[in-house]
Amino acid sequence: MCGIVGYIGKEKNALNILINGLKALEYRGYDSAGIAYFNKNKIITIKEKGKIEKLEKIIDYSIESNIGIAHTRWATCGDATKINAHPHSCGKITIVHNGIIENYDELKEQLQKDNYKLISETDSEIIAVLLNKYYEEYNDIIKAIIKTKQIIKGSYAIAILCADINDKIYAIRKDSPLIVAKNENASFIASDVPAILNYTNKYTILEENEIAILSNKDISFFNNELQPIKKKMLTFKGNSIDAQKGHFKHFMLKEIFEEKDIIEKIIKKYNTIEKLEKKLGFLTKYDNITIIGCGSAYHVGLIAKYLLEEYANIPVNIEIASEFRYKNNFLNKKSLAIFISQSGETADTLASLREVKKDKIDTLGIVNVQESSIAREADKVIYTEAGPEIAVATTKAFIAQLVIMNLITIYMGNKKGKIKIEDLNEILTNFDNLKKQIENILNNSYKEIAKKIYQAQNIFFLGRNIDYGIAMEGSLKLKEISYIHSEAYPAGELKHGTISLIEKNMPVISIVTKEHIFDKTISNIKETKARGSFNIVISNKTVNDCDINILVPNINPILQPILVTIILQLISYETANLKGCDIDKPRNLAKSVTVE
Ligand code: AGP
Repeated sequence: MCGIVGYIGKEKNALNILINGLKALEYRGYDSAGIAYFNKNKIITIKEKGKIEKLEKIIDYSIESNIGIAHTRWATCGDATKINAHPHSCGKITIVHNGIIENYDELKEQLQKDNYKLISETDSEIIAVLLNKYYEEYNDIIKAIIKTKQIIKGSYAIAILCADINDKIYAIRKDSPLIVAKNENASFIASDVPAILNYTNKYTILEENEIAILSNKDISFFNNELQPIKKKMLTFKGNSIDAQKGHFKHFMLKEIFEEKDIIEKIIKKYNTIEKLEKKLGFLTKYDNITIIGCGSAYHVGLIAKYLLEEYANIPVNIEIASEFRYKNNFLNKKSLAIFISQSGETADTLASLREVKKDKIDTLGIVNVQESSIAREADKVIYTEAGPEIAVATTKAFIAQLVIMNLITIYMGNKKGKIKIEDLNEILTNFDNLKKQIENILNNSYKEIAKKIYQAQNIFFLGRNIDYGIAMEGSLKLKEISYIHSEAYPAGELKHGTISLIEKNMPVISIVTKEHIFDKTISNIKETKARGSFNIVISNKTVNDCDINILVPNINPILQPILVTIILQLISYETANLKGCDIDKPRNLAKSVTVE
C-alpha cells in the first residue's frame, strides 16, 4: 500500500538512492512522499504532498549523507496532505510505516490523556510517539522497539532512525512486506525488490515479527525474543531492466506484450502429463475447491470455476476475500482452498488464508511475487513467474494466473476422464498456434474502437458462462485505468431490471465464444440494440447484426479466455490512452492493497 526505502552505506549519496528507490516503488502509492536523513549528526526530514516528482523539486542533492529512510504514501488514515506524509518524528525518533495500526484510536486517546500532542491525523505518528516515549524511559532503542511492538496491533513494516545513533537503521514488520538487501558497501531495506535493483540483487525477506539492524558494514537479525538469527540471502532473478519500460509508453503495454512469452514459459514448464503429475498430483485427493481472491484475482477464480466445473467435473466455490474472511465457510477435509494473488500481500486474501489454515484446511497459493507472505504461508504454492508487474492494473500476472488454472483444469479433467490424453497433448504441445494467435492480436490496432467509446459515461460488458467471467475482468480493467463507469452483467440477467439503463448510443461490449449459448447471447445483444445501444461484439464466429464485430480465433475452449482477455486489455489501454489517463498509476489505486 505504501512504499518504504532505507539506505545506510559508505557512499554519501543517500538522497539519490532514497529518491530512486521511491520512484521504483511509486506503484505502491503516490499521494505524498518524504525522506529523512542524517546530516551533521541531525536528522533532517523533507516531505511533500503529491507524487515523488514534487518531492524531488525540493531536494538539494548536493547534501552528503550516508544514511536515511524514505516513504511514498497511499493514504489510509488521514488525508493525503503534507503534514500526514511520512516520515513522522517524535523527540529523538523518526519513522516510516506501511500498514494500519488497528488500536490507533485507543492509543491516541491514552497518549492525549498523558498530554502527548499529535501533529498529524495518521496512525503512523503514534508509532514514533511510543518509540520515543520508551526510548526516553529505557534509554535503549531495542527495548523501546520491543515494548512498542507489544502495544501496537495491526499491520506494519517500519523503518526507524534514532537521533542518538547515526550509524544504524532499525526495521520491523508484521503482515506488511519488507525486504532487506546488501552489497559490499551498503545495506538497504525496501517494501519490494525493484527499489534496490540498481544497487544489488542480493536480498532476504524480513519474516513476521523479526527485527533487523542495518549498518554500513552488515545486517543483524533478531527474532521476537531478541535471539540472533541467521537469514539466507536470496538472489533476485530479474534485473532493473525488468523494472523499466523499455520502448513502451507505459509499463501496462509492455506487460501486455510480455504475455505470450510468459504463457510459453509456463506451458513449456508443464507440457507433459508427467510434469503436471509432479506439480499437481496432490490435487486428486480433493472433491471440491474454493477459490479466494480480490479484484482481478477474484475474476480468475470466476473464470476457473466455469473451466473446472465443465472440464474437470469438480464443484468450485469462488469467494471475494474481504467477504470470505468474516463469514462461515463450509470447507472440509476434502476441500482445497486456492488463494490467487499477484502480490502475495493483499491483506484480505492473506487474512483469509490464515483463517482457513486455523481449520487445518489444505491451501494452495497461486502467486507472482516470490517469497511473499501468501506464497510462504500457503501449504503449497505455484508461482506464476510473470516477473515484476509494475503497472497497477494487472495484465500479465492475470494471464499467468489464468494459464495456471488452465493447467489445473487440464490435469484434473484428465484424471477425471473428462479430457483424453490426446486432447491434453494437443493443448500442451500446440502452443505455437496459441502464440501466433496472440501475436496477431497484438499486431492489430484497437485505437479505432477506443475512439468510439472513450467519451462514453457508461459502458456495459455482457457475457454468458465463462464469457461473463471474462466480461467482469474487461469491465474492471476499463474502469480502473480510464475512469469510465462500466459494469459487467450476465447477458441473460440484464433484462431483469438493469436494461432500463440502456440509452441511445451507449456502448455495450459483448463476449460470445460458447457454442451452446451463442444464439441466446446474440438475442440478449439484440435486446440492448432495440434500445439504441452501440454494440461491440467479441466473438469466435462472425456476428453481423452489431456495430463492430471483433473476431477472435476459435481455439481450444479451455484456452479461449486468454485471447479474449488480451483484446479487452488492449481496448482498455487504448481508451485510457486517448483520455490521457495516468495508465500505470491510476488515481486512488495502489498495486498491492496491504490494508483492509
Ligand atoms: C489490479 O488490476 C486489480 N484491479 C486489483 O483488483 C488486484 O487484482 C487486487 O487488488 C488483488 O491484488 P493481488 O492479486 O495482488 O492480491
